[in-house]
Amino acid sequence: MAFRRIYLFTLALVWGCMASSSSQQTAVAPPQDLQITDPGLLGSLDIEWKPPPNVQTFNECTVKYKFEYRNTGDREWKVIFTRKLKFRVGFDLSRTAEVKVQTLLEGRCTNDVEVQSEWIYATFQVPLQGKLESEVQNFHCIYHDWEYLKCTWQPGLLAPRGVHYGLYYWYEGLDHAEQCDDYIQDHGINIGCMLQNLSQAEYKDLSICVNGSAAATLLRPLYATLRLQNLAKPSPPKQLMVSTSTSEGLRVVWSPPGGETPPQCLEYEVQLAEEQGKTKAVWASVSTQMETAFTIARVNQSRISCVRVRGRTNIFCADQGFWSEWTQECISVSREEDKQLFILIPVILSLSSSLIIFMLIGQCKKRTPPEKATHMSVGC
Ligand SMILES: *[C@@H]1O[C@H](CO)[C@@H](O)[C@H](O)[C@H]1NC(C)=O
Ligand SMILES: *[C@@H]1O[C@H](CO)[C@@H](O)[C@H](O)[C@H]1NC(C)=O
Ligand SMILES: *[C@@H]1O[C@H](CO)[C@@H](O)[C@H](O)[C@H]1NC(C)=O
Repeated sequence: MAFRRIYLFTLALVWGCMASSSSQQTAVAPPQDLQITDPGLLGSLDIEWKPPPNVQTFNECTVKYKFEYRNTGDREWKVIFTRKLKFRVGFDLSRTAEVKVQTLLEGRCTNDVEVQSEWIYATFQVPLQGKLESEVQNFHCIYHDWEYLKCTWQPGLLAPRGVHYGLYYWYEGLDHAEQCDDYIQDHGINIGCMLQNLSQAEYKDLSICVNGSAAATLLRPLYATLRLQNLAKPSPPKQLMVSTSTSEGLRVVWSPPGGETPPQCLEYEVQLAEEQGKTKAVWASVSTQMETAFTIARVNQSRISCVRVRGRTNIFCADQGFWSEWTQECISVSREEDKQLFILIPVILSLSSSLIIFMLIGQCKKRTPPEKATHMSVGC
């Protein structure tokens, strides 16, 4: 057994040597002059390289490049196969950008085997001024009704007096980074920003930088890359109507919220609470769905049933989203029963009176009164 394994190993070694010597004949050099430049777009960097020196000699082969990039700390590299020599890709500028590229050669000159060069590497880091504790805190953004983006933050722990914060943004389609023109302020300090008219930035990377200045202190800028569709929060659903239908159920109907939220991008959660005697009503989910109507089949004999509905972006339009506030509607189920009882009373009365007469005639022969009228039947 051991002998055979050694034999196989040797064979593999010989094969490996042969393979590497044959590819040595058509070895290809890595690309040259790999460079990263920052066009000032708050996250996008330009990466460029030049072909390997001997590329003209492979006239029966195609030359391609395998370009990979990531931020330091990311586990995975993002991979692009290309014949181009220039790319603009997005990074998180608060961390180091790493790129690598290799030449791929394939065709008659390599017997149609893909030959790979060594990698060449480059990194980039914007100068990170200021202490980390001077960076703004609790930065978050919500895209309300697909109409406006509201971002808020708190001053950094090391924020000096008289600090001034600015929010800058860029997305593909803008010539250069733009500054917020509608700040939210607290005691004269910018702590948020409202951005309108961002529909062109949906389904793209929206790069944001919140930086600041103070008289004598350098502040650490914050960089964020947003996806608007994943930050959407719709308004609550409208025109919620609850009614009892004949089949002992609750019919719940509502309309999509207003605003620019695409109606086909919503899903809804329906919850029901029923007050039974003195016990406190507890909300329970009965459905999560994309339709705007729902029938709750079984409703308990409760006095009040409340239904509430909220919406958020569904999986067909985004990876995540925020729930809207609830829209709520209550109906008194027992009142519906009272109405039925009200109609029933004359019937019961006339029934029981005829029963009394009947029983009097029948000299108090024991008879079972109708179930509903038990409490009304007169003893003999
Ligand atoms: C909205 O943005 C577009 C470009 O994306 C621009 O042409 C248009 O003037 C803007 N409208 C307003 C009201 O700012
Ligand atoms: C903040 O960033 C913008 C965009 O990069 C830049 O124009 C501005 O000078 C920066 N301000 C400070 C105080 O660093
Ligand atoms: C109805 O009542 C039963 C028991 O009282 C409870 O288990 C059930 O969850 C109730 N149904 C609804 C829809 O609240």
